[in-house]
Amino acid sequence: MEIAIVTGASNGLGREFVFLLDKENLDEIWVIARRTKLLQALQTAVKTPLRILSLDLIQRTSLDELQRLLLQETPAVRYLINAAGFGKIGKYDEIPLSALLDMIDLNGRAAIAITQISLPYMAANSHILEICSVAAFQPIPFFNVYAASKAMLYRYSRALAVELSPRQIYVTAVCPYWIKDTGFIPIAQQAKSSTYFQHFPFAAKEADVARRAWQSAKRKNTVVTPSFFACLERCAAKILPHSLMMRLSILFCRL
Ligand SMILES: NC(=O)c1ccc[n+]([C@@H]2O[C@H](COP(=O)([O-])OP(=O)(O)OC[C@H]3O[C@@H](n4cnc5c(N)ncnc54)[C@H](OP(=O)(O)O)[C@@H]3O)[C@@H](O)[C@H]2O)c1
Repeated sequence: MEIAIVTGASNGLGREFVFLLDKENLDEIWVIARRTKLLQALQTAVKTPLRILSLDLIQRTSLDELQRLLLQETPAVRYLINAAGFGKIGKYDEIPLSALLDMIDLNGRAAIAITQISLPYMAANSHILEICSVAAFQPIPFFNVYAASKAMLYRYSRALAVELSPRQIYVTAVCPYWIKDTGFIPIAQQAKSSTYFQHFPFAAKEADVARRAWQSAKRKNTVVTPSFFACLERCAAKILPHSLMMRLSILFCRL
């Protein structure tokens, strides 16, 4: 049985990737998120059978459950897309510690664990897409833990791509700039007192980001910045000192 696994499939980028995977003639797509009804509704929009896995990936038991299911079904995992993630904007003392730890657990630990759990079931010409962010390229004041969690996933992805190249398993770190039409920004802005990052100029659309990321992953690229501003930020973070990039992001976040 050939499958894809998509985390964060109930909404936003994850759901867009399910639409793209629907054209891949897979036997099943395993879709993971907490909102079961949204996952069930997705079945009406795609022809590939979906296996609904209602899991909270912050819980370690969810990772055990996925590992057990893989052991039981022994599928060939042709695609793994780790899109589940969230961020919280705010000053260091505006965001509850529990939210900071959940961000690390979901964006970093869960994505890495699911990759490790899936790898024994992947053969040559399989693809892994780790949804990182341009936030991975530099430290970001008032989005500090989010940026750090994405830097972790980004660095893991890049190193893993090198380790897996002899097995011809392709790893792509997808690094979008702001996306305007997913659930991400409203969730990120929930720190009520926060006055940082209130406007999101040049934000991209989820369908464009997913399509560009998908095409680039198919070309076996190890990093994709799927919009002009994502490319610009990546280049700037390579050339300019991070101290200057942080000053610029402070100016930018008050726009
Ligand atoms: N939107 C942006 O501006 C932007 C920019 C750069 C990178 N990204 C990254 O892109 C990825 C997708 O985000 P998005 O923009 O599509 O946001 P989104 O619409 O909020 O989607 C996030 C997905 O993650 C799932 N999720 C959240 N917490 C979870 C948990 N504890 N366990 C399992 N699933 C969980 C959500 O499903 P449930 O709520 O149903 O669990 C949802 O399906 C994220 O990794 C994000 O960091 C987004």
